Amino acid sequence: MSLLDRFERYPLTFGKTAIEHLPRLTEAVGAEVEFYAKREDCNSGLAFGGNKLRKLEYIMPDAIASGADTLVSIGGVQSNHTRMVAATAAKIGMKCVVIQEKWVPHYDAVYDRVGNIMMTRLMGADSRLVDDGFDIGIRKSWEDAIQSVKDAGGKPYAIPAGASVHKYGGLGYVGFAEEVAEQETKLGFKFDYIVVCVVTGSTQGGMIVGFAAQDRADRVIGIDASGTLDQTRAQVREIVDNAADLVGLGRRVRDDEIHINPDYAYPAYGVPSEETNDAIRLAAKTEAMMTDPVYEGKSMQGMIDLAKKGFFPKGSKVLYAHLGGAPALNGYSYYYRDG
Ligand SMILES: Cc1ncc(COP(=O)(O)O)c(C=O)c1O
Repeated sequence: MSLLDRFERYPLTFGKTAIEHLPRLTEAVGAEVEFYAKREDCNSGLAFGGNKLRKLEYIMPDAIASGADTLVSIGGVQSNHTRMVAATAAKIGMKCVVIQEKWVPHYDAVYDRVGNIMMTRLMGADSRLVDDGFDIGIRKSWEDAIQSVKDAGGKPYAIPAGASVHKYGGLGYVGFAEEVAEQETKLGFKFDYIVVCVVTGSTQGGMIVGFAAQDRADRVIGIDASGTLDQTRAQVREIVDNAADLVGLGRRVRDDEIHINPDYAYPAYGVPSEETNDAIRLAAKTEAMMTDPVYEGKSMQGMIDLAKKGFFPKGSKVLYAHLGGAPALNGYSYYYRDG
């Protein structure tokens, strides 16, 4: 029995994602814990996939039922989320308008031409660049875009940043927790910790609800990449409460079951530190696992650093949720010109 049985799902992914052992990364870090990765980054054939597709699978039935003809969403210039909304629209045969805000003070000459935004344009989305800075909340530019579709006689369906503050935004990652439990039965062991990057909140929020049903929500360690911890924490709290209600968890998740570590978001959202870049290089050189400077590089850095500091007890099995995002690397080529 799944908490999600009552909800309709529009399949956008291949199915269960692989869990991969990371022996060379484990050895390189040398912290007497074992690293594994759940490869959400390889979850679909739609434009390189990633975490947003798990969320969109539970949002699209509502979009289709609404009679909408255009998906409208928002993110930064190198947003993975807007790439995934554009992919979903293309696959389903809808139109797509995405607002891409200047969330990141980053100036590679081709930043607004390559990687995510290039694919978004290739898939036919109307990608609109605006000058506003980083904010995970509801934005005027997005509301204006929704209105512009109506003014042109279209029927918009609004998807907020990261597909997070949407009534069904948390459901997909409730499913992740159930999938991990099933896979653990086959593997013959349980993971002690799950490490996950958090920004708009519904990935970690959904996981917390799913793992709360297994009494281990406190083992989900969120690594903040937003640099706006209070806002992200409040958003995770809201998503947890909403998703717990929806799926009928039957209890309120306690504050001490929501772990978000703010130590690796520096210097800013979308800007990697030297330590983040070193973590990206280490995962690439040991496991050929590509992580990005905005999200996954920061959670990789966090996992490695926490392991070295002894945060995970000796012998722990630590599952890194790899949420995708590698296309953004193309917008940061200067950092990696020498590897
Ligand atoms: C690759 C990647 N990792 C992590 C995240 C963070 O997930 P969430 O926004 O659900 O907190 C995102 C999206 O924001 C992402 O695209």
